[in-house]
Amino acid sequence: TSGLVVAVDGTSGSGKSSTCRAVASRLGLAYLDTGAMYRAMTWWMLEHGVDVHDAAAVALRSGEATIVSGTDPTAPTIRVDGTDVSGPIRGEAVTGAVSPVATVREVREQMVALQRAIIAEATTTGRGIVVEGRDIASHVAPDAQVKVYLTADPAARAARRAAEEGGSDLAATEAVLRSRDEIDSGRETSPLTMVDGAAHIDSTHLTLDQVIEEVVTLVRAAE
Ligand code: C5P
Repeated sequence: TSGLVVAVDGTSGSGKSSTCRAVASRLGLAYLDTGAMYRAMTWWMLEHGVDVHDAAAVALRSGEATIVSGTDPTAPTIRVDGTDVSGPIRGEAVTGAVSPVATVREVREQMVALQRAIIAEATTTGRGIVVEGRDIASHVAPDAQVKVYLTADPAARAARRAAEEGGSDLAATEAVLRSRDEIDSGRETSPLTMVDGAAHIDSTHLTLDQVIEEVVTLVRAAE
């Protein structure tokens, strides 16, 4: 796996994180969760009382937040100004506010620069890295040797997410997912799309292990 980049893009709740973490730990690759970075930026905005729907205000303040992401697939960490925000970025407040923040060009430019630096480090050291997000193959790492587009039907994604969250309301969970899908796919800057050459895996009727197996097979074939 020397220096390999594995780009995994897809909709919210398609199983990207579980899949990527498992693949990375199994193959000894680094792991980068770019969604966690946008969530961390959103956490900072909420913490500082910035209106997340005011794109100009978000753009103006985004440079103040220092976001540092770990790359260990067995213990992902994310820090903002030195504070570990791994817990709070999964809460309802951040989840409901992240997509508008991620539409802001200045935020994306800042995050993409950080992501490319982490990817460069993992490739030059020969370790290789699994990177998950929405625009990895299309924008962040177009030269990735492996590109995966992971999706699942909204109802299946909502059911998994609701189970993860301890039986929260299914209809409400599906509504939030659909609204994030819509913003993520419809935005002007780096929308979620499947690029040419990507392997499309629809996980609706697959178990997590089956998805992991498919991605591992793709990575081994690229080595
Ligand atoms: O993957 P996750 O659901 O944690 O991502 C949270 C949000 O961050 C997404 O809904 C999307 O708005 C944004 N995101 C993005 N580009 C990425 C990763 C995430 O815009 N590469």
